[in-house]
Amino acid sequence: MIALKKTPGRDFLILNLSDPQLGDGEWEAGHPNRKILEDCVGTLVARVHPDLITVSGDLAWAGNDRAYDALADFLDTFGIPWAPVWGNHDNQEGPEKVEAVVSRYLTHPLCVYERGPADLGNGNYVIRIEEDGRPVSALFMLDSHDRAPYVNEAGVESNEWAKLIPEQLAWYREQIAALEADGCRDSAIILHIPIYAYREAFAAAFRQDIDPKTVLPEDADGSACWNPGYESSFGVLWEGIGSYPADEGAFSVIRELGHTKHILAGHDHVDNFVISYEGVTFIYSLKAGPGCYWDPRLNGGTVLAVGENGVHSVRHEYVKAK
Ligand SMILES: [Fe+2]
Repeated sequence: MIALKKTPGRDFLILNLSDPQLGDGEWEAGHPNRKILEDCVGTLVARVHPDLITVSGDLAWAGNDRAYDALADFLDTFGIPWAPVWGNHDNQEGPEKVEAVVSRYLTHPLCVYERGPADLGNGNYVIRIEEDGRPVSALFMLDSHDRAPYVNEAGVESNEWAKLIPEQLAWYREQIAALEADGCRDSAIILHIPIYAYREAFAAAFRQDIDPKTVLPEDADGSACWNPGYESSFGVLWEGIGSYPADEGAFSVIRELGHTKHILAGHDHVDNFVISYEGVTFIYSLKAGPGCYWDPRLNGGTVLAVGENGVHSVRHEYVKAK
């Protein structure tokens, strides 16, 4: 079990970075993409002073071993614990390749990571945030895998973005029971591929008569693009929601247990909405740096503030790309 200490009287701040995803060549000295990512993260750490850095997947491109090592070495320079989950790209060369990266990552003392049960994927683990020995919140770090088979209503088979599997949801349920037994009443989920309910949340919150691609981040905060009851939403949706196309049942378990109040995903690089829907805040993290594809207007990180009763606020910290 991983436990990190929250200082009484002050928030425990989590800085999430998503999809840094540079290739080996982009980590070469002087490469502009490396510089943009390093500037982005350096600016965020100096501005936020986080207690923990999380990375919500696509740390590099599968097989780009030098890139994984370069990212780990770079994150170590801040002297702050950091915790990754695996994205679809990280998983693309299979569990053995991930194991090889993980075994090197575990030589980095600031990398907090647990393998978790082998049948659930390449890293499912819980980070407890404790104040005076009491867990005030817990982070579920979940592996959302790579691809999964799907058959549509017409019987056509395809390979789609993956989903949490039933065994993970059963494990999640067990972990919640253990947390509650220890007096913990709040948790957040951090994963790469959004769960299906992101689609429900956006459909409920966003006005149908507006094209989401036309809304800028500065206009999505408190503007008229949200339906009544969802005015606290912010952020944009500039590409489709890349979840599994059918309901995997995750949200019904989350809702039933009533413990997790925040879910954070990466994966869709130019989506960064934050919507509170049926008691849970659905967060798309702001993407860090230019790796893979990006929009420089959506560069930065996402901050979760944990108080004595759990996570109480979410904000994006935009960084002007240099
Ligand atoms: Fe990605």
